[in-house]
Amino acid sequence: MEWNADLYRDAHAFIWNYGQSLLSVLEPRAGERILDVGCGTGELTAEIAAAGATVVGIDSSPSMIDAALAKFPQLDFRVDDAASLSVDGPFDAVFSNAALHWVLRAEDAAASMARVIRQGGRLVAEFGGHGNIATLQQAYASALAESAGVEFRSPWYFPALGAYASLLEAKGFEVTGATLYDRPTRLEGREGLTNWYRMFLGNWLAPLDTDAQARVLERAERLCEGQFRGEHWVADYRRLRVVAVRR
Ligand code: BEZ
Repeated sequence: MEWNADLYRDAHAFIWNYGQSLLSVLEPRAGERILDVGCGTGELTAEIAAAGATVVGIDSSPSMIDAALAKFPQLDFRVDDAASLSVDGPFDAVFSNAALHWVLRAEDAAASMARVIRQGGRLVAEFGGHGNIATLQQAYASALAESAGVEFRSPWYFPALGAYASLLEAKGFEVTGATLYDRPTRLEGREGLTNWYRMFLGNWLAPLDTDAQARVLERAERLCEGQFRGEHWVADYRRLRVVAVRR
């Protein structure tokens, strides 16, 4: 997936705005060493640093890391893969907001995070859970099939709560809290839904000509029309929030 860091930062600020409540679960403290997995453009990483912790932000996208370094040049950002972390531990905590659903090698990611957290250290993570954006995904799959003859495959990992808790336990964590909750998310403006599709699923449109792209997006919008609230769209996000301690 090629990321457009400018579009991500400008049009999807809700991603780290929602991340504030996860930061309050993390409670970063001065002197702690914390790893931010999937840091994107670095806004939450900077808040962890502002609490006095020493933080490393990693992301698999070089364009995200370039954008993070441009905005927060004093911080430590690196390109790295959550499923095979090369950053050296130990960390007191691993934090991850809205990123782990992109890591299809979920077992490898859990093992990798367990390897870099010290014994007794914590994992505080939130990402898409089972049923996340089911309406948006189903509409896009149908629109691609009907309007372009393309078979869509989801690029995401949205696990059920029990399955993910078991996975973490198998990799050396004790899960102390887990919640799966609906978080309807506003997509600003009449173009909000097509902007979202272009941002996160644009690679499915890229091989199509301009007319076919427009047909797919129009059809997907039609199929999602129950999500339109007059001036904005509402995406059917569902979050899985987990807190776990390294045994
Ligand atoms: C999410 O945060 O749940 C998400 C964001 C973009 C694409 C898919 C899921």
